[in-house]
Amino acid sequence: MIDTRPISRIKSISKIAVYESIDSTNRAGVALVRRGISDFIIIALRQQRGRGRMGRQWLSGEGGAYFSLGVSTEKMERPQMLTFICAKAIMDMLISMNMEPCFKWPNDVFVNGRKISGVLIELVNNIAVCGIGINVNNEIAHENINAISMKEIKGEKIPLEDVISSCAGNIFSILDNMEVIDGFLQNSTMNGRPVSIKTLAGTVKGTVKGFNPDGAIILRTQNGIREFYEGDLSLEDL
Ligand code: BTN
Repeated sequence: MIDTRPISRIKSISKIAVYESIDSTNRAGVALVRRGISDFIIIALRQQRGRGRMGRQWLSGEGGAYFSLGVSTEKMERPQMLTFICAKAIMDMLISMNMEPCFKWPNDVFVNGRKISGVLIELVNNIAVCGIGINVNNEIAHENINAISMKEIKGEKIPLEDVISSCAGNIFSILDNMEVIDGFLQNSTMNGRPVSIKTLAGTVKGTVKGFNPDGAIILRTQNGIREFYEGDLSLEDL
């Protein structure tokens, strides 16, 4: 089990649940939210059916950080920015541990060109379930060559409670200071990079021009400037 004391010091979290194993912390979070409950964190040491974006699975072996926060969006002007807030919070945690993360729109965090973390936001009524998966001390499957863990980078195990409490604390600090997120997107290293974006309507290639105030990515394409609110992005120069 993990020491929840650092997490209990975060004032926006009033309920903490820790599971040895669960199907999905987001699934459990959505069930709470449907009962009108927020201000919680659900942590699991393993997930049997971790949910990823676009219906994918999130492999959740022992040693990784898997948690979901229930956050009320009632007083938020731009709840659609939560995905970037979580990504920035994860990046700030990694930087504080001397790692050099990169952001890939809309919610992936990479280190050394490999994915270290993903975010899945599920919104029910006025409460968001912010699900975060981070490869911390878990073994990465050999075939998963595009993934990396914090342990692999640092060469030593990292306490899960430090990772989770730092990320969760960072999320609430950014929510109190939202202009940080506009600067984060404006200064993203993604700007100017060639990318392709896969949407339900097909794949479009272009160069990143920036982001609009709602977090949509703006691409310069053969057919002019286009904005995308969702999609699966690949960096063409990686
Ligand atoms: C992605 O990159 O596709 C998003 C992955 C999000 C995984 C996390 S792990 C904790 C939470 N519970 C889930 O079932 N999914 C999210």
